[in-house]
Amino acid sequence: MVERLKSAIRDVNDFPKPGIVFKDITPILGDAALFRGAIDLLCETAGGKEIDKIVGIDARGFIFAAAVADRLSAGFVPVRKKGKLPWRCHEASYALEYGEATVEIHQDAVKPGEKVLLVDDLLATGGTAAAAVKLLDKVGADVIAVSFLIELSFLKGREKIPSHEVKSILHY
Ligand code: PRP
Ligand code: ADE
Repeated sequence: MVERLKSAIRDVNDFPKPGIVFKDITPILGDAALFRGAIDLLCETAGGKEIDKIVGIDARGFIFAAAVADRLSAGFVPVRKKGKLPWRCHEASYALEYGEATVEIHQDAVKPGEKVLLVDDLLATGGTAAAAVKLLDKVGADVIAVSFLIELSFLKGREKIPSHEVKSILHY
């Protein structure tokens, strides 16, 4: 399955900026067997542990995280780009491979001590994931692992989240 997933990912040069090789995951999403295979593998990153909440990152992360939450009978919590969540939020700003942004989480989305699996589609420079982890630390979550479908290992993003276990399915 890992090789099938890798072959399905489309490299798009110079998107969204010159010099970036964008990993397009839409061919995986559009293929029922590949999408299910990706969710199966992401679910395994929970290591069979009981998880209270799957936290997904806006926007591509939601697609995978919500499916994992359903499969693991866990709740789903969105970490969203600034200005989208209606209630009281914590926020964290960060730089990513091709820009910068601020993400937010509802202050009451995760109770202190709840077991959380953070899920996103891709780890590049790690700015996004580090910001999401900062938000989870603020709400007192017990982060079991931080899981990605794709890791661009050459960008060393996991070094930005040294205090947590990082689990990726596909490595480049
Ligand atoms: C992408 C991707 C990750 C992030 C990784 O999200 O889904 O969240 O970049 O980059 P980093 O490791 O360098 O921080 P993007 O902000 O492009 O948003 P999208 O999911 O809405 O496309
Ligand atoms: N997010 C950050 N870098 C990315 C890349 N190279 N491809 C897809 N999503 C990304």
